[in-house]
Amino acid sequence: MEPTVQNQAVMATYNRFPLTIIKGRGSYVWDEQGNQFLDYTAGIATCNLGHVPDYVQERLQHQLDTLWHCSNLYHIPPQDKLATLLIEQSCADQVFFCNSGAEANEAAIKLARKYGKEAKGEDAYTIVTFTQSFHGRTLATLSATGQAKIQQGFEPLVQGFQCLPYNNTEALATIDPTKTCAILLEVVQGEGGVVPADPAWLDGIRSLCQKENILLMIDEVQTGMGRTGSLFGYQQYGIQPDVFTLAKGLGSGFPIGAVLAKAHVAACFQAGSHGSTFGGNPLATTAGLATLEYMLAHTIPEQAKTLGEYFVTKLAALQETYAVIDTIRAAGLLMGIVIKDSDTALQIVTKARNNKLLVLLAGPQVVRILPPLTTTKAEIDQAVTILDTCFSQL
Ligand SMILES: Cc1ncc(COP(=O)(O)O)c(C=O)c1O
Repeated sequence: MEPTVQNQAVMATYNRFPLTIIKGRGSYVWDEQGNQFLDYTAGIATCNLGHVPDYVQERLQHQLDTLWHCSNLYHIPPQDKLATLLIEQSCADQVFFCNSGAEANEAAIKLARKYGKEAKGEDAYTIVTFTQSFHGRTLATLSATGQAKIQQGFEPLVQGFQCLPYNNTEALATIDPTKTCAILLEVVQGEGGVVPADPAWLDGIRSLCQKENILLMIDEVQTGMGRTGSLFGYQQYGIQPDVFTLAKGLGSGFPIGAVLAKAHVAACFQAGSHGSTFGGNPLATTAGLATLEYMLAHTIPEQAKTLGEYFVTKLAALQETYAVIDTIRAAGLLMGIVIKDSDTALQIVTKARNNKLLVLLAGPQVVRILPPLTTTKAEIDQAVTILDTCFSQL
């Protein structure tokens, strides 16, 4: 394979793999030399309907011919339709649109602070977050993120976050309800290593929030849009958040983010409280609307659940064979192979790419697998065969 070098005109913020992707279709992408790869990264849980899905493409094409952009000072029909469909399908009552996961969480943080001040008092601005979480790269969202490596060099951090150990019920006792406006968490930590929330811990948090008038805010940027086997990850826990955020899979690769909230919380945002030039623009919300319609019509989240279960049985067989595999973690098609040592995880990612399978790392020890939710059992078999080869070559 040709090594691809970093273009010096682009800031070196990413450790790029030596691969240039120029075309995608369904579960596959192609490089400049015409090599075909099975893409089980899906743009990091973004191309949930595969690359260039026909239905979304047709709808976007029509919108491209009609209107690209229009300010939020005017009504935008696809934005209204997408908001209506999202609230029909969730526990939320209102939606604010933005352009990315970080922006969605940033807006949720602002909303929580405003809610705290209005509902509880000036000092109720603390937001509780958790170790190994990931909420984005803006100053407030990296301050919310429970990983020192994301924060280093950007101090002073935004004040008003308390970071507690994830899945630890005892630690919740340190929360001061008079100073806390919200608890922000992922139901499955994606970047943190594919770690699902313990249902009992989450139940405890829901009860605490209810009792103390603290908002439960769920970051569904990675877990949302069918990824974990339900449209939104929280739906499998039998709880309802007061606020949740979406991005990644919402636009099938077209940039879009959203904050969804219960009416009494959303009411804290009034004209002038928050805004975005591009947020909810006609192209982005057309992509979002087409994506969501297709997902619902074709029961894509259910498919992710079934395919995820199938994939896990195959990965469990690999685990039996290779002692280097510690555990398999999975929620729908958000999957991680936990490796006993960190160098090996990177080796597997590299070997897989050399064998035409794209997978990722989540932290140093987890090989993260994020297939498009439209993948097939035959493609899963293909991926497992390649992974088998990679482990056998260690
Ligand atoms: C859970 C979670 N929240 C927020 C983000 C940030 O999203 P974006 O990169 O679109 O800003 C990510 C990105 O990986 C994520 O996984």
